[in-house]
Order: sequence, then C-alpha cells, then structure tokens
Amino acid sequence: MNIFTTVISGGIEQMYQVLSNEQHLLIMTDSNVIKLDKVQSLVSSLEKQGYQYTLISDLPAEPTNHDVENLIDKLPAEVGVVVGIGGGSVLDISKLISVLYASNTDYLDNFNRLLEGEKPAARIPLVLVPTTAGTGAEATPNSIIALPEKATKVGIISPVMLPDYVVLAPELTTSMPPHITASTGIDALCHLIECYTASVANPVGDNYALIGMQKFFSNIEQVIEKPHDLMVRLNLLWASYYGGASISHSGTHLVHALSYPLGGKYKIPHGLANSLLLVPVMKHIYSHCEEKLANVYRLLPAADHSLSESAMAAELVKYLELLVMKLGLPTRLNAIGIEKHQLPELAESAMQVTRLLNHSPVKVSQQDVLELYQSITD
Ligand SMILES: [Fe+2]
Repeated sequence: MNIFTTVISGGIEQMYQVLSNEQHLLIMTDSNVIKLDKVQSLVSSLEKQGYQYTLISDLPAEPTNHDVENLIDKLPAEVGVVVGIGGGSVLDISKLISVLYASNTDYLDNFNRLLEGEKPAARIPLVLVPTTAGTGAEATPNSIIALPEKATKVGIISPVMLPDYVVLAPELTTSMPPHITASTGIDALCHLIECYTASVANPVGDNYALIGMQKFFSNIEQVIEKPHDLMVRLNLLWASYYGGASISHSGTHLVHALSYPLGGKYKIPHGLANSLLLVPVMKHIYSHCEEKLANVYRLLPAADHSLSESAMAAELVKYLELLVMKLGLPTRLNAIGIEKHQLPELAESAMQVTRLLNHSPVKVSQQDVLELYQSITD
C-alpha cells in the first residue's frame, strides 16, 4: 500500500501503467458508466490481454448499508486490486471494499464494525477513476454510507482510504449533460471556496484550494460552450481533485451544512442544493473573510487588480451570482419545490450538522440559518 496517492492524467488507457496482470482485478462501476464506449473498450482490452477480473457494474447511487450488505454476497474470494470507475458513490464504495478485503474474510462483520466506528487500518491496492468533476471523492479519505432506518448517513473515515492511484480520464466526462456538468462543477467550487474560508483552513489546504479554483474559474464557462474539449474537461477534473484534497486538509462549512437537509429530506441533488446556497452563504460570511474572498477574486480571468480588497470581495460575490445564473442553475428554493413553511424544519436539521457548522468562519444561530434559507425563498 502506498502512503500517498499518485495522480495520472491523460486518459483511461493510462490505467495500464498501474495495473498488473498478475493480480485479480475487481472493477466496480455503475449502470451508466459501463455503457460508455471507452469503458467498454477498456474492459474488452483487459480481457484480450489476459487480465483476470470480476466486473460489478450495478453499484447504486447514495449507497445504503443494505446495498453494501448485498454487494458483500457478490464479492469474489481473491482480489488483488480494486478499480473504481464512476462518480462519488462508486468511488466511496470502492474505497470501502478495498478496506474489507484487507482484514479477515468475514466481510459483513468487518463492515458492521466500521459502521460502529472502528477505524479502517489497512486496505488492498486501490485505483480510482472519477467520471464526474465534482465530488472529489478520489481525493478524500471518506466513504459515506446511508442508514435509512436511522434517517442519517455515516462517514467511515481514515487516511488509509486514500487510493494508491487516481487516473484522470477527461474523455469519460464529455457525455455528461450540461446541467450535471454545471451542478457537479459548483459542488467542486463549494469544496474549494468553503475549505479556503473555513475556520480550520491552513496553508496546505489553502494551496490546494487556490490551485483548484484557478483551474475551475478558467474552465467552467468554456465547458458549457465546448463540452467535448478534453483539456477543459481535464482542468475541471483537476479542480475537483483539488477540492477533495482541500477537504482532506481543511473542511467544508455552511454551504454543505445547509445543503445536507435538502438532500436528506427532499432528495435534492447535492450539487444543485449547493448551487442554491453558495451565494447567500458568501454574502453571510463576506465581512469575516474579505481578504480571502479578494484572493479568490484575483483568480478570475477578468479580475480587475486595481480594486481595493473590499471591492474585490464584493465583486467576487457578484460574479458567483452571475455564474450560477449563466450555468442555468436555480437560485430560489421555490424552483425546486421548497416553500416557506418548510424552512423552520430545514433550519433545525441544518443545526444538527455540527461537524461542518464548527468549520464556519462565523458562528451561526438557528435564526441565522433560517434567514439564509428565507433569503432564497419567495
Ligand atoms: Fe460536496
């Protein structure tokens, strides 16, 4: 097991640099990704070249403990490398399975102990290939599992879950519909900008966040105009990777804390919920983070470097407001079916997300959270 992740970019065929045909591969993906031509040709070329593999191509989105229990029944006995190809859910399950293979063979028992809080101590070799530019799950030490009976999610978290290799293959992301590119992209931006402005921010996370935001701002508008431009897509994969890396060193705060109840209770897609909350949260923290928001502004391709720090921070918020609209993402909760009378319950739920609220650069009360939701509701 490596003690750090090596990131290889340039295409799915780079996978051959990191796979050995002496080990049995467990390739894990979902029913959409397996349909991609490039993934199909990878699988058939592995077969032609004599690689031994098991393919599981029906992983669910937002996996529950029951999904993992069912999956455990299907796992082959001997696996040398886990290869996860997909969005955040596929990558999270792949991380978890690589941990289960590293302990005794009673995988169900191992899984239950992890759910109860035991820390993963080891894993078998792991290669992750993200197919969306958003979650950054390939760079985080987390695997998130939903517990439907308890109406909550649990994070199994340990640095050993960081993979040996990440392969950035932009050609796998070109067929993403524009609204998914937009909402997952904003999720990546939220990871970067929240980690950069968090109370737990530090120079390592800041470096990742600034590099990621530079890549994000220089490419997010182009990707809508040129969805098949591989360099633009690769830069967004890098932005997403750096978002995950900055989470590993810092942490998200208000946007994610307030978006969790929208996902948990109303099944609003994560990126969409974040894009609704990004601007109101930036307006709320603005006066506490002027210097940092000015630094973010300086990364915009059309930044006016003669402005004062405070004007730069204000311009950044205006830019973000415009960007969310340009990307065609909703700006009001009503647009996704949430009405005023539902807000107090949402605010109450958001206040339970203390792990993230504690990262906020400014302490918030339940009333503040309610007002944030109200500010985007008619
Ligand atoms: Fe996120």
